[in-house]
Amino acid sequence: MRRSLRTLPVLAGALAGLAACSNGPQSTLDASGFGARQVEGLWWLMFWISVCVFVEVMTLFGWALWRRRRETVRVRGGDATRFVGILGVAIPLVILSVVYGTGLMTLDAIANPSRAAATVEVVGHQWWWEVRYPDRPGAVTANEVHIPVGEAVRVRLRSADVQHSFWVPQLMPKTDLYPGKPNETWLKAARVGTFRGQCAEYCGDQHAYMALQVVAQSRADFDAWLADIAAPAPARLTAAQQRGRAVFLNGSCAACHTVRGTRADGTVGPDLTNLASRWSVGAGAAPNDRGHLGGWVVNSQTIKPGNRMPPQPVAAQELPDLLDYLQTLR
Ligand code: CUA
Repeated sequence: MRRSLRTLPVLAGALAGLAACSNGPQSTLDASGFGARQVEGLWWLMFWISVCVFVEVMTLFGWALWRRRRETVRVRGGDATRFVGILGVAIPLVILSVVYGTGLMTLDAIANPSRAAATVEVVGHQWWWEVRYPDRPGAVTANEVHIPVGEAVRVRLRSADVQHSFWVPQLMPKTDLYPGKPNETWLKAARVGTFRGQCAEYCGDQHAYMALQVVAQSRADFDAWLADIAAPAPARLTAAQQRGRAVFLNGSCAACHTVRGTRADGTVGPDLTNLASRWSVGAGAAPNDRGHLGGWVVNSQTIKPGNRMPPQPVAAQELPDLLDYLQTLR
């Protein structure tokens, strides 16, 4: 009874471990993209081989214990050599060859495709992602990559500062971004949906909040989205929104951020032309609603300590107008 109680935490731990493997928003075992499916197949192959080896070793171990208790076994030299030759050399050689061969085939399958339906440029910054569509002038956003479903999309990777890693576990294995050395990967989603991505290389204080979202949508929806984000910010504004725009342009915001269609052309922080349509503020640090946006503008350091945006001296009576304006940027 006492022994079975002692095994309980071990069993619970193993079950929790298995549960963690399945179906989270970043589960590699819930693959929805071509590259991730290839890697998932390789993972399951290695998992089942490990299970077989484990069962085999435990069976032999149990057998040895059982025999030892009953009798002293004399093993002849020839039997021992054959035993080691088969279990210690031949079988491992077969297993390693199969895994190596399958690994090479997987690498070949997920290599960059020669033809891609679209190209997206992703630049890693501490701690956010700049996203550009070079074939569509003006199409710039942040922390959000849209792709047409079922089509191969080339992703060009660059870093503006330190090393980062682009990883969308449900779509594709990780690919590093190096300062001064462009890299490339690609995405192909098997279904329409939203997939969470994450910087997968430690890059400083807010590495954890360097998240992004990949949105796979139908070709028509993707084209409409691309046209939408390529357009400049709306010019028709209410009186309050105009006051907010003046706060934005005359204050420090415009020194670091761009809003296309205005004279704000800073390049230190993300382009804000479609800020209001994004899924989060601070690359996953908080939801993108009016309350969090206001908190972010006034003092983003309380939401994402260490990020590059200093607290802003916006007067309390000007903040609602500024937020009114920021919320027109979609
Ligand atoms: Cu960028 Cu970790």
